[in-house]
Amino acid sequence: MSEGIHSQSLIFVGRDLSPGFNMNSSSKVLILKIIIHLGALLPVINLYFLAFADQLGADPVEAVIHFTGIGSLNILLLTLCVSPLAKFLKQGYLLQTRRLLGLYAFTYALLHLLNFLAFEVQFDGMLFISEVIDRPYITVGMLAFILLSALAITSLNRLKRKMGKSWQHLHNSIYLLVLLVTVHFYWSVKSELIAPLFYFLLAIILLAVRHKKLKRLIQSMFA
Ligand code: HEM
Repeated sequence: MSEGIHSQSLIFVGRDLSPGFNMNSSSKVLILKIIIHLGALLPVINLYFLAFADQLGADPVEAVIHFTGIGSLNILLLTLCVSPLAKFLKQGYLLQTRRLLGLYAFTYALLHLLNFLAFEVQFDGMLFISEVIDRPYITVGMLAFILLSALAITSLNRLKRKMGKSWQHLHNSIYLLVLLVTVHFYWSVKSELIAPLFYFLLAIILLAVRHKKLKRLIQSMFA
């Protein structure tokens, strides 16, 4: 999904820091992708297995919503780590894992939303709409979900080619998306604020690493 984030710097990293993209790099990418598939799929299979076995404690609905929400946020932040890490380690091939990570962030968010629809509002459309309107943290969550869906759908290579420059503009919204999710998280908790604040700080650090690019983006918005 986030293949185009920093597309110029990626080409730079790919060419200068990892010259001669070869089988070796391909094998590394393959191994990383297998690890990502296993790391994302096994916990979620285990979660639903435990849910069906009634092993998720007193409030299984909350446990499932919590797990999928945090899971999506973790993967989103991991996606944002890839580019600085690739530059720091001088391993351009790492960038090829970002699309898969982004798609898993979307999958977890989709499960999070589906759990909410199934267990909190029992697929009642009107109740769902009133929740989105009346509860600000759900409004923000929904905005984040719409944005993440747009990034996931447009991660298809065919769409990327068709969209041209606007693709990069759309995919830059990942920064806004991460901020929306941390606000959603902060707003959703009743008392325990340490975890959402920790995630907010992490997000700010990952954005600060890109301060030059963000400054350019903000300047171009107001130019
Ligand atoms: C990109 C999309 C989203 C992400 C990454 C996300 C992430 C999160 C996170 C990290 C939490 C805190 C987990 C916890 O400590 O319990 C959370 C809570 C929650 N989210 Fe989301 N969320 C997203 C969208 C949505 C949407 C669209 C809805 C519903 C329409 C929603 C409903 C909830 C609910 C009900 C909670 C639990 C609040 C509580 O504990 O009472 N989220 N979400």
